Amino acid sequence: MGTTLLTQVIVVKAIAIDGPAASGKSTVGFKVGRSLDYVFFDTGVMYRAVAWAILERGISSADSEAVGRVAGELPISVSAPSREESDGRQATIQVGEKDVTWSIRSPQVDSIVSVVAANRQVRRELSRKQRLIGLKHGSGAGGKAGVVMAGRDIGTVVLPEAPLKIYLEAPLGERSRRRYREITERGKEADLATILDDMRLRDQIDSERAVAPLRSAPDAHQIQTQDKTVQEVVGLILALAAEVLGAGAVSTGDIDIPHEGSQGIQ
Ligand code: CDP
Repeated sequence: MGTTLLTQVIVVKAIAIDGPAASGKSTVGFKVGRSLDYVFFDTGVMYRAVAWAILERGISSADSEAVGRVAGELPISVSAPSREESDGRQATIQVGEKDVTWSIRSPQVDSIVSVVAANRQVRRELSRKQRLIGLKHGSGAGGKAGVVMAGRDIGTVVLPEAPLKIYLEAPLGERSRRRYREITERGKEADLATILDDMRLRDQIDSERAVAPLRSAPDAHQIQTQDKTVQEVVGLILALAAEVLGAGAVSTGDIDIPHEGSQGIQ
């Protein structure tokens, strides 16, 4: 007598967007998420929050053990901005009760975040949490129809099963000018040459690290964004999403990030 094996294939409704610094991942990803009514999650904020916390605590980025410990215990939360918080933010990032949305974007954080992100323990802690978030929202278990996740290793490590993977590219000069505009539009001072040098170094560390380096997944759609408007890039991704994922619509909301002492995501 033969046996019948029933295999249920669960499609994770996820769009992975990877690419180097300021390649447009969060600007584009946020809009794609809004159009599809998928949750948008920018994983870079978690690495930035850990980098911010070690600066606050006076821990050296070279102290791998201490940095890894911080990544394991830091209570990071990401939520949709309230009405009073409408200052251009895509999300409100908190460490405990403290709003760190803008402080994680400081030049001090920029200058150490890639070293922090190359730490094995940090990557183990954060990518595990990111995967849980991706699977939860991508499978509908969080009450959402899908997730758009942005980072450096989403298509390769965090959610390799994502049916749609995008790798955004733009030349370094163009990316530095974008970052310069973002910062000055927030009313802050910036120096283009410094931004370019920092970004070059960050890209190099991100691409050369041993664990989960910045890389396009073999099955990712590579999009060169230099000569395209944001809306054009969003349009390209939405067309691919319609083909690959079909339609899916639910409301966006807060994102739980599991941490020590919290309930976590089951
Ligand atoms: O906004 P920008 O593209 O400059 O950076 P980000 O996405 O906020 O990421 C900040 C840093 O976090 C990156 O330079 C990486 O070192 C690290 N990162 C990572 O290693 N893996 C991710 N999935 C996301 C960010």
